[in-house]
Amino acid sequence: IEAALVDGPLKGRRILVTSGPTHEPIDPVRYIANRSSGAQGSAIARALTALGAEVVFVTGPAEAPLPEGAEVHRIETAEQMLAACRAALPVDAAICAAAVADWRVASASDSKIKKDKGGLPKLEFTENPDILAALSQPGPDRPLLVVGFAAETDAVERNAIAKRQRKGCDWIVANDVSPRTGIMGGTENEVILITETGAEPWPRLGKTEVARRLAARLAAHLESEQG
Ligand code: CTP
Ligand code: CA
Repeated sequence: IEAALVDGPLKGRRILVTSGPTHEPIDPVRYIANRSSGAQGSAIARALTALGAEVVFVTGPAEAPLPEGAEVHRIETAEQMLAACRAALPVDAAICAAAVADWRVASASDSKIKKDKGGLPKLEFTENPDILAALSQPGPDRPLLVVGFAAETDAVERNAIAKRQRKGCDWIVANDVSPRTGIMGGTENEVILITETGAEPWPRLGKTEVARRLAARLAAHLESEQG
């Protein structure tokens, strides 16, 4: 279905979704990655498209199928993801579901690092740009609504509330990614939605259902802002 043909509450809205992990090179054959499948991000993009939105989907190398009907931009690194997100502006809303690598190797090697070249390699790291914080910065291009995720293993609600403040975003979808929850890489998600008015725990739901609820909430919010 062509997004533009869907007559839903998000018709005429352009929405940016980041998804998947990023890959940060060590050398031409090796990289640093994480366990994100991209499933939640793809589900969100689909749910927004189903409500009529024009979705720009910026994704790292994810195993989840790409959302049909979205404008897809594939990237590998956090720096490339930031550039692709900036190029997508202006948008009405941005949802940062990507598991962006927090660090990259400070100077990735142009040639393959060899075993026999004097001992173990010493990798030095540097911090990646924070895409959610960058998109949340006040300015003429700031989306009306910026939504982040918070993957936590401890004190989920408290950490997520602090994260919302720190990033300057409007909402945070917080989840517990401890291995015992099976959420990372699984088909279900159990989230707490943190907004300006407080914390709202949602029941454990399929990632598709979490995406639908979030898309519906977002549509209602944009409608009330009539931006
Ligand atoms: N995020 C981002 N760019 C980064 C790091 C994170 O856009 N470089 C976004 C994620 O997409 C997510 C939110 O920020 O929406 C929170 O990510 P998370 O990893 O939970 O938070 P961090 O600020 O990186 O803190 P930490 O990993 O130390 O908990
Ligand atoms: Ca992080």
